[in-house]
Amino acid sequence: MKQFTTISSLTTYLEEPISKGLTIGFVPTMGALHPGHLNLVKRSKLENDLTVCSIFVNPIQFNNASDLAQYPRTLELDLKLLENIRCDVVFTPEGTEMYPEGQENTLDIDFGTLDKVMEGKFRPGHFKGVAIVVEKLLSIVKPSRAYFGKKDYQQLAIIKFMVDKTGMPVKIVPCETIREPDGLAMSSRNVRLTAAERNLAPSIYQALVAVKEQAGQQPIGILKEWAIDKIQENSAMKIEYFEIGDKETLMPVENWDHLDRSVAFIALFLGDVRLIDNIELFS
Ligand code: PAJ
Repeated sequence: MKQFTTISSLTTYLEEPISKGLTIGFVPTMGALHPGHLNLVKRSKLENDLTVCSIFVNPIQFNNASDLAQYPRTLELDLKLLENIRCDVVFTPEGTEMYPEGQENTLDIDFGTLDKVMEGKFRPGHFKGVAIVVEKLLSIVKPSRAYFGKKDYQQLAIIKFMVDKTGMPVKIVPCETIREPDGLAMSSRNVRLTAAERNLAPSIYQALVAVKEQAGQQPIGILKEWAIDKIQENSAMKIEYFEIGDKETLMPVENWDHLDRSVAFIALFLGDVRLIDNIELFS
């Protein structure tokens, strides 16, 4: 596996495969890799001639300094994991490489309501930071396909929208959420849960599955209240939002007329750790 830390060395290396018309698959990450990330890399390897993974803890998408400071960083192990699954190229830039001093970070895209609800509402500026770094990375790597997890459903919607608006020639490939055997969605943040919190965590997905089972059978408002009460039965869980929204616009849905487009979304604090999850109610 080739490792690059500068944009110029990476783009120089990629010139040849791109000129030969080889397909490049790209998996952007913030590291602390787990099977959810590795699944994206494996999928990219199946579908492309060359796979590039980036590891960069993007400071401008953290709206909370302590979350950024506590974000797990396990680069040596990450490199081994990528090597094991034969990722071709890894890009591990420093902050100054991605954001040179004096260079302004702007992105002139109006996301409408997409970045105003749920994560956008509770983490102001987060999606602007995500969109800026993903736009930069896609312009550097110039992949044919880029792989994103449905675990971050709203992020995926934002990125699809951005690629659509800018006309970047890349196909965004959504990939299923990978879960622990007990249902907890894999996340780099899970390592910060205490043993007691980790034992409670599967109830989040259990509640989402129960919502899916009951979807269409009782009014949305009642089902939402039931789910919120169920999860918060445990005092360690503090829900930020529980929403049922449209799979593309993400706007809250009021009734079951479009159950075939509805997704349930949750964000909560379990102790100090903020977790998100979702379930498509239609598949
Ligand atoms: P990160 O949280 O490291 O996630 C990188 C990619 O892995 C994202 O597409 C995310 O949705 C996916 N992923 C994480 N956990 C997953 C799981 N359990 N199952 C399937 N996919 C999963 O998301 C980011 O980084 C950043 O915002 C980034 C896009 C890299 C921009 O900085």
